[in-house]
Amino acid sequence: HEYDLVITNGVCVTASDIATYDVGIKDKKIAILAPSGMLANASTKKLIDAEGGFVMPGGIDCHVHLQEPSMFGKGSSADSYESGTRSAIAGGTTTIVSFAPQQKHEDSLLAALNATHKLASGSCYCDYGMHLLVSNPGPKAISELKQIKEEEGVSSLKIYMTYTALQLSDYQILTILLACRENKIITMIHAENGDVLNWLTDKLEEKKLFAPKYHSNSRPPILEAEATNRAIALSSLINNTPILLVHVSDPGATFRIREAQTHGQPIFAETCPQYLFLTRDDLDKPGFEGAKCVCSPPPRNEADQKLIWKGLRNGTFSVLSSDHCPFRFDDAETGKKTCITHEHPVGRFKYIPNGIPMIETRLPATFSASNMTVTKFVEVTSTNAAKLYGMYPRKGAMIPGVSDADLVIWYPESKKPNIHLTNEMLHHDVDYSPLEGRHIANWPRYTILRGKVVWDRDNGGIVGEKGYGQFVKRETATLNNVWERVEEEGEFDLEMLVYLAVIILQVARVR
Ligand code: URP
Ligand code: ZN
Ligand code: ZN
Ligand code: ZN
Repeated sequence: HEYDLVITNGVCVTASDIATYDVGIKDKKIAILAPSGMLANASTKKLIDAEGGFVMPGGIDCHVHLQEPSMFGKGSSADSYESGTRSAIAGGTTTIVSFAPQQKHEDSLLAALNATHKLASGSCYCDYGMHLLVSNPGPKAISELKQIKEEEGVSSLKIYMTYTALQLSDYQILTILLACRENKIITMIHAENGDVLNWLTDKLEEKKLFAPKYHSNSRPPILEAEATNRAIALSSLINNTPILLVHVSDPGATFRIREAQTHGQPIFAETCPQYLFLTRDDLDKPGFEGAKCVCSPPPRNEADQKLIWKGLRNGTFSVLSSDHCPFRFDDAETGKKTCITHEHPVGRFKYIPNGIPMIETRLPATFSASNMTVTKFVEVTSTNAAKLYGMYPRKGAMIPGVSDADLVIWYPESKKPNIHLTNEMLHHDVDYSPLEGRHIANWPRYTILRGKVVWDRDNGGIVGEKGYGQFVKRETATLNNVWERVEEEGEFDLEMLVYLAVIILQVARVR
C-alpha cells in the first residue's frame, strides 16, 4: 500500500487556509495533500470519506490538571491520566500539556517531573507534554531549570499569585522570571491577588455568607486585573521576559494585556470555555448546585463573555485551553462536597475545590458556537498552542513530511448530530458536566492520532488504546518569534535596571 490512511472529500482547515484536499497518511505523518478526488482510488490500508466535513489539526489543550493533589485538603483532581486523555480524544484533542506539581515542602523540580511521568507513562490515549508547576523556587529548583529545558523537553512552567499552598511573592516571581529568561522557558502566571481574596473571604464568612455563589464575590474582577497588571510590570522589569497569563476571565485584565501587547511587550494570554459559556448565575443556584461551576477566576457576566470572545477573535488571546481540573460533585470524601458539614449545609465556598471538567467539550462547544472563523478556531485551539509550547510544526499543522498525522474530522452540515449534552455522553471520570443540557451543533466524528483512528463516534467510540499516547519533548517557543525578540533586547542587565528605575522615578517626580 502506498498509504496507511487516506481521507477523501474533506475540507482541510489550518490556521491560515481552507481548501478541499485529499489527505494521504504514511508512517504516522501527513504524506501528501492532493487535489480533491486524486486519492480516491489510491492504494491504502484504510479509507475515510469525510463527506465534505472539516478536517483540521487535532486539538492541543495546553492547560490540563490530571491526578493533581487537591489544594483544599483530601484527595486529588478526579481524572487520572487514563480517564482524562480518553476524554480528550473523544472531544477531538490529540495532544495535552498537563502539570507536574512541585509541593512547597519539596525543593526539587526534577523529582516532581519524574513523579508525574510515573503517573502518565503507559496510561495515555493521546500524546502529552508537561509543564512544571513551581511552588518553591529555591536555589535547587532554579539550578535544575537548564536540564529541565534542554534534556527533559519542558519549555514552560506555571506559577501562582494566589492559593496559600502555592502562592509566590513578587520577590519569588522575579527570581523565576529571570531564570526563565535565561533558559528560554515560558512562564505561565495565574494572576489573582491572593491576599485580597483571602481578606474578602474572611469578611464574607464573618457575615455568614457561605453559599457557592459567594466564591464569585470573594474574587471580584479588579483582583484579577490588579494581579495581571502586576505580572506585566514584573515581566517588564526583567527586560520584557515573555509571560502567559492563564485563564483570563475579566475584560479589565484583557484590556491591560492588549495595551502591553500594543507596546510590543511579549505578553501572551489564554482564556477558557468557562469564560465563554458560564456566568455568575451558574453559581447562584439553590442549595449546593452552584459548586459545579466553581472555578478560579470565577465565571463573570454576559457582557464580559462577549468581550472575551472578542479578545479571541482579535488576537489578544493566543490560546483557548480547557483548564480541565475536575472534582466530583456527589463525593463527600474528595469531591466538591467535602466542604459540607452539619453546621454548613450549603458548604463553605472557601473550601470548595476549584476547577471544572472541560477537556472533552472544549472543541465541540466552541466550534458549535461559531463565533469566530474556522481558521481562527484552528489557530487558538491547536496551532498557537503548538507554537507557544515548542511543538510546531510537528503538532498543530498539516505540513506533508513534517507534521504528525493528528487530525480531527467533523460531521458535514448534512449530518450534524445536534446534541443536547448529557454527562453520560462524556468519557471523563466525573459525575457531572457544567454544560449539561446545552445544545451542541457538531462534534468530532473521527479523531486521528499519528495516523491511527482513536475516536470513531459512529463505530465503536473510543477505538484507540491506553498507552498509545506518547510523551512529547518540547522545544523553545516560536510563537511571534518571541525569543528572537528577547535576544534583540540583549542580556538582562541589573545596572541598567537600576539606572532606568532612577530615570523613571525622576520622570514621575517631574509629573
Ligand atoms: O479553578 C481552577 N482554575 N482550578 C484549577 C487550578 C488552576 O488554578 O488552574
Ligand atoms: Zn490557575
Ligand atoms: Zn489550571
Ligand atoms: Zn437544540
